[in-house]
Amino acid sequence: MAEAFFTEQHELIRKLAREFAEKELTKEILDQVEETEEFPEEILDKMAKAGFFGVKIPKELGGQGADARAYVLVMEEIARVSGVASIYVSSPNSLSGGPLLMAGNDEQKEKYLRPVVTGEKKLAFALTEPGAGSDAGSVATTAVKEGDHYILNGRKCFITMAPLSDYAVIFAKTDRTKGNKGLSAFVVDMHAPGVSCGKPENKMGVIGCATSDIILENVAVPESDRLGQEGDGFKIAMQTLNTGRLGVAAQSIGVAQGCLDEAVQYAKERKQFGRNIGSFQAISFMIADMATKLEAAKQLVYKAAYMMDTKQDATLNASMAKYYASEVCNEIAQKAVQIHGGYGFIKDYKVERMFRDCRVFTIYEGTSQVQQMVIGGKLLKK
Ligand code: CAA
Repeated sequence: MAEAFFTEQHELIRKLAREFAEKELTKEILDQVEETEEFPEEILDKMAKAGFFGVKIPKELGGQGADARAYVLVMEEIARVSGVASIYVSSPNSLSGGPLLMAGNDEQKEKYLRPVVTGEKKLAFALTEPGAGSDAGSVATTAVKEGDHYILNGRKCFITMAPLSDYAVIFAKTDRTKGNKGLSAFVVDMHAPGVSCGKPENKMGVIGCATSDIILENVAVPESDRLGQEGDGFKIAMQTLNTGRLGVAAQSIGVAQGCLDEAVQYAKERKQFGRNIGSFQAISFMIADMATKLEAAKQLVYKAAYMMDTKQDATLNASMAKYYASEVCNEIAQKAVQIHGGYGFIKDYKVERMFRDCRVFTIYEGTSQVQQMVIGGKLLKK
């Protein structure tokens, strides 16, 4: 049972996140986000004050000092109401904050992580390039050492939050002869000379958190802004992605729960042929499948978080959780739209947005096929 993974403290955190989501992320606000493509700063401020940007960040850096399970619960409850709001939670806690937590020294953490936790600054994670998506090791951006600086040149793409960010963790090759072992990580000031963003992408879903290219043209980055040692970049990216994948898995069970809730309510209310449509086996069996698969996905997600909290190697389990939960979320969202019939296809109904939002979950932070590579590779390793 899910309960076995959680303490009373965890349940309180879930309650806090649920109450916040239901009170602050109203339909009016979320419709406005879709229309303007911007997420209100005042809601982000409230999320920061509630501690959501630093759930997993140590207290001495302004965070809550909680664990991966607490993070999963916050992600799940926020995503149950708004997929895009949960991206603002995941970024500081995992993808962008992760490299600093893992490889940053005290000065770097103080300078770059603390203001992200308090919501004063935004930080992006920039690994992907036009020629380096699933094959992350083939990054072509270069970082050439010149005195006490590196000169960075290259182009990153599909970078979540890039146009909104103050800093970005950029992965670049310091040694092009060494494949993924020649990759290093840097914190780059997004306002430094030579840094620019492409136009925000016109996306299918998770609208309200802009995504764009980052272009680096002879950008001078102080050596003191390198994270870890030269050559540590791939390891930092992969370990960060393990937590990132847990976050997407939590987002997936959240959105799936939101879709299931909407479908159940609609099936109880909507009448056809003189009966509630939920009384037809065709609909109740669909709902039974949705609920069963969601419960299975939750167990995978909670177990992966529990393994991280108990310091076990969770690479395999994080990939399984991300793979299964994101696929099942898409299936549940698709069925929720189907149950709503024609109403599911129009924007007045929440399932329309949730159906679009979750499409990216099987793609970003490692496609389902990359997760299969990780899972298969782990099991078949000699
Ligand atoms: N955790 C820890 N270590 C890992 C790891 C993981 N998940 N995956 C690989 N490694 C380690 C391996 O153990 C290996 O270590 P050793 O050299 O010590 O043996 C090393 O990394 C190299 O591993 P591989 O030989 O397997 O590397 P590869 O080049 O064949 O790539 C891959 C493996 C799993 C396909 C990897 O490239 C990958 O994860 N690709 C997907 C990248 C990805 O998720 N991109 C998403 C970008 S972020 C995003 O989407 C967010 C956004 O803003 C939109």
